[in-house]
Amino acid sequence: MFMDPDTHLIPSGSAAAGESVAALDIQGVSMVFGRGDAAHTVIDRLDFQVRHGEFLCIVGASGCGKTTLLRLLAGLASPTHGAVSFLGGAIKGPSRDRAIVFQDYGRALLPWRTVYGNISLALENTPLGKRQRHERILELANKMGLAHAVDRYPDQLSGGMQQRVQIARCLAQDPKLLLMDEPFGALDAITRQSLQDEVARLTREHRTTVVFITHDLEEAIYLGDRVIVLAANPGRILADIAIPISRPRNQLTTREEPVFLDLRHQVYGLLEGH
Ligand SMILES: Nc1ncnc2c1ncn2[C@@H]1O[C@H](COP(=O)(O)OP(=O)(O)OP(=O)(O)O)[C@@H](O)[C@H]1O
Ligand SMILES: [Mg+2]
Repeated sequence: MFMDPDTHLIPSGSAAAGESVAALDIQGVSMVFGRGDAAHTVIDRLDFQVRHGEFLCIVGASGCGKTTLLRLLAGLASPTHGAVSFLGGAIKGPSRDRAIVFQDYGRALLPWRTVYGNISLALENTPLGKRQRHERILELANKMGLAHAVDRYPDQLSGGMQQRVQIARCLAQDPKLLLMDEPFGALDAITRQSLQDEVARLTREHRTTVVFITHDLEEAIYLGDRVIVLAANPGRILADIAIPISRPRNQLTTREEPVFLDLRHQVYGLLEGH
């Protein structure tokens, strides 16, 4: 597959170098809000695929339709035109296969349930037995650094811990597709970096396909196998960039690599121009 060695740009709509199987397929997707004179095209004819197990990051200015796109992928809304499918089936509504992590972790948790109870939510009404459910909750709480806090309520947790609970709950349902909408936007830099590494590690371990939305282009390059840059008004693909940086990545050294800095320069330039 074509990939420009200098810019790492690949044509929009194509998978990143080398691999093939598309898990998520977005074809000619547009989203128009309102009717008649009030009609407002928020997303305009998006075409792209996400490979099985790929970590795709999407960056773009505020209002370019990122959350709207994620809602379409979660099945929380339907496109005005075009088709969205996952693993060969049209997305027609929410499904256990697809989990979404919202930016606003405060509102995503049930305040009357403990950490344990909030993670447990994802496992209720599943065939899992009581004992297996218990083990899975503790395993995830442990992986997300919450083992000491399982009996606490959301208002007894820091922002970073609350976001860990939301992520643990999403991972508990063992989704095939993990959708994340600026999940670390409200966190301090250190917490943010540690959660970036946890999410990268866990999703890789489980071969989860990820669509991760962020304003932060360094975060996108650090986490992504690929970064899609969206332009606004209407939301459309400006560039689809493969990230040829090996894993595991390191918060200090990766961010200092010439290829990282070069990519940062490119994406910044693209966003600045729009
Ligand atoms: N249900 C809706 N009805 C009408 N307009 C909407 C609706 N949802 C979103 N919009 C509009 O669509 C545009 C894109 O919104 P969206 O939330 O997708 O942007 P975003 O890229 O996620 O922005 P941000 O980075 O600020 O979160 C905005 O102009 C918004 O007002
Ligand atoms: Mg948004």
